[in-house]
Amino acid sequence: MKKVTTLGQFIIERQADFPFAKGELSRLLRDIGIAAKIVNREVNKAGLVDILGDQGTVNVQGEHQKKLDVFANEQFISALSCGGETCAIASEENETLVHIDSAVSKNAKYVVCMDPLDGSSNIDVNVAIGTIFSIYRRTSFSGPAEERDYLQKGTEQIAAGYVIYGSSTMLVYTTGKGVNGFTLDPSIGEFCLSHPDMMCPKSGTIYSINEGNYVHFPDGVKQYIKYCQMEDKHTHRPYTSRYIGSLVADFHRNLLKGGIFIYPSTLKSPKGKLRLLYEGNPIAFIIEEAGGRASSGFKRILDLQPKSLHERTPLFVGSTDMVKQAEEFMMKYSPVETV
Ligand code: AHG
Ligand code: MN
Ligand code: MN
Repeated sequence: MKKVTTLGQFIIERQADFPFAKGELSRLLRDIGIAAKIVNREVNKAGLVDILGDQGTVNVQGEHQKKLDVFANEQFISALSCGGETCAIASEENETLVHIDSAVSKNAKYVVCMDPLDGSSNIDVNVAIGTIFSIYRRTSFSGPAEERDYLQKGTEQIAAGYVIYGSSTMLVYTTGKGVNGFTLDPSIGEFCLSHPDMMCPKSGTIYSINEGNYVHFPDGVKQYIKYCQMEDKHTHRPYTSRYIGSLVADFHRNLLKGGIFIYPSTLKSPKGKLRLLYEGNPIAFIIEEAGGRASSGFKRILDLQPKSLHERTPLFVGSTDMVKQAEEFMMKYSPVETV
């Protein structure tokens, strides 16, 4: 019989990679796994329990919150609060830091950034959605966590990952020693190691971008799209276009199959749409650990210095050769950076 490794077992085994760790990071990752299972349970029966549709509120980004955005936010905050390993959370759904006010949490070493429900526009139509998280060591020494604890470059991340609620539910994460994927086995309620040491193919034939925004794209992106669509047997072009509209799902597919995902700056959003702290950085950490590349079109995402919790960044991410090529088009046709 094939040996099954659960997420819990795997986390404990890997704790040995951090000789001075006291287990807090392991507990934090385990808590995220528990919240993911609860969100997964609700996503699976969303149509039955009145959890679809709008909440009737607007978040700090000016976006209409869905009931599931709010539910997932509450579940992750609650799971992370109980564990006591983080003193505050930066979430897409909260304008300011959510401080965790408990005796155990106030000296916690870690801070967490998260997009509790990614791909909100797909919730009501049964298309894959996700959760993204990123963990840093706190830099302030005492008292409540401060914004500067969060305004660290992506290179300082201790761990990052995502959950994809898709045809099956998976949790994929890295602590800087490779990327591992776990599939939820609903019969035992455990995430089981299914994708050890994930690597992104060096090149691919998929490009993912919302082409509806074409007229607003920088010339570099327009030219790159034309390049993707041109016929050339040697480079397996034309490439195929795949765009789900959930970053987690588009990224996950390209990580496994090889490809490039682009959400560039546009005339309407000069810094792009995606958020650096809880979308760009965790996704960039994962892709680099899987041998791929992530850039703003000009600079490595992980080297960007964040200035605010909800700031945005253009994102070019995926197979190394494809991202490099897209960067060359940006340099040639759109040499003026917007970030
Ligand atoms: P969120 O649901 O967390 O606000 O994120 C939505 C993001 C991301 O998941 C996706 O890649 C992108 O928005 C899609 O945007 P467009 O609809 O503009 O293509
Ligand atoms: Mn998102
Ligand atoms: Mn979201």
